[in-house]
Amino acid sequence: MPCVSSRLDQMVKMAPSYSSVVDKILMVEQILSEFRLNKEDLKEVMKRMQCEMERGLRLETHEEASVKMLPTYVCSTPEGSEVGDFLALDLGGTNFRVMLVKVGEDEGKSWKVETKNEMYSIPEDAMTGTAEMLFDYIAECMSDFLDKHHIKHKKLPLGFTFSFPVRHEDLDKGILLNWTKGFKASGAEGNNVVGLLRDAIKRRGDFEMDVVAMLNDTVATMISCYYEDRGCEVGMIVGTGCNACYMEEMRTVELVEGEEGRMCVNTEWGAFGDNGELEDFRLEYDRVVDETSINPGHQLYEKLISGKYMGELVRLVLMKLANEELLFNGEASELLKTRGSFETRFVSQVESGDRKQIYNILSSLGVLPSELDCDIVRLVCESVSTRSAHMCGAGLAAVINQMRERRSQDALVITVGIDGSVYKLHPCFRDRFHKIVRDLAPRCEITFIQSEEGSGRGAALISAVACKMAACMLPQ
Ligand code: GLC
Repeated sequence: MPCVSSRLDQMVKMAPSYSSVVDKILMVEQILSEFRLNKEDLKEVMKRMQCEMERGLRLETHEEASVKMLPTYVCSTPEGSEVGDFLALDLGGTNFRVMLVKVGEDEGKSWKVETKNEMYSIPEDAMTGTAEMLFDYIAECMSDFLDKHHIKHKKLPLGFTFSFPVRHEDLDKGILLNWTKGFKASGAEGNNVVGLLRDAIKRRGDFEMDVVAMLNDTVATMISCYYEDRGCEVGMIVGTGCNACYMEEMRTVELVEGEEGRMCVNTEWGAFGDNGELEDFRLEYDRVVDETSINPGHQLYEKLISGKYMGELVRLVLMKLANEELLFNGEASELLKTRGSFETRFVSQVESGDRKQIYNILSSLGVLPSELDCDIVRLVCESVSTRSAHMCGAGLAAVINQMRERRSQDALVITVGIDGSVYKLHPCFRDRFHKIVRDLAPRCEITFIQSEEGSGRGAALISAVACKMAACMLPQ
């Protein structure tokens, strides 16, 4: 982590020549050094990830594997799709979105124009109440959207981006294995998600929809980028949650019959570590984050990386430093002592701003920091977010190396489509992440593309392909 150590050197040089200040910085440095992962550590993470991916794919070991490698029924992308209007839903973060997407044809290549888009925040009681409450709320938002845009009379084909682990039986059918990212609505786990949506629409009775596809956000991201770059065979999200999907050889996807071609596999790598694979890398702060979360013992890899947890990790480190009298004169404010008060967006702001900005953020949390405090807080943010980028990079390198080995290629040329608030909004995550992935996957030529509105566009595009295929299967 050269960025952090060089800043430390600078601070030591600039600090007033009191040995106590220098000692303080050195003690902080020692506490933060636990977050540093060297290349050997990362190679080990990558190796273990690859091993779990393999176990997830195999019928024999799938049940106990932490990385579930879920088949998505999105296959080596067929050319051609229906054209027309599609509705897309996106559920998976703190907001729920409804979009109307126009898919058209341009010299054999599908293109899409997103025409309308509404965002609805999900009330806490819908997230943690019953499945019926949650899906009734979703149907209510859809009804509102259709009213607003005067399209309630149309029975549109619909693609549903549902960003949780789903065991698919087909493109439009699959059961929710478990909630992640703070969702907890009871009565959904173990049930067909599309069925829950159809039932809620029926209960309302004021509009009709033709649900043709359900897909994970990683898959939607990959598909939306595929239309710009035909080499895109990996999709990844680093936002509230963290996950990746990629095109795997059908013959190795043992959960689905068939040998030919490729199928997109949703790795659900966020659960990596749930069988103990990360124990030697998890720190005391990670244990507290996990124990105080809604799903202790689950999604342990995701909890080291994603935006839902990053701010809280930083807060716990700040508390440790304050308790050791290395920060804020040994006194944290009541607000800073409160779980969740240090938001992940503050991590980005601290790392992109100057001392004044850091001062403002900290004073909004009730502490009045010295200049040295501001510098130390910045070091904490850099340590936590750099570890996140490196851990996540080890995961992606595992996926890409696996693809290269499977395809027996000396050099794999591959494009990765990425979305998510941490990747897009953090000032340094992206560069640190790209660098480590390229380091760990040396025989691969990797292009990263950022997806725009991938969840909605991807859902609409795959629905358009599904409609075309359904039309082909109709008797002539
Ligand atoms: C969580 C979900 C996963 C999703 C990811 C990013 O890890 O389990 O399905 O892709 O978050 O939103």
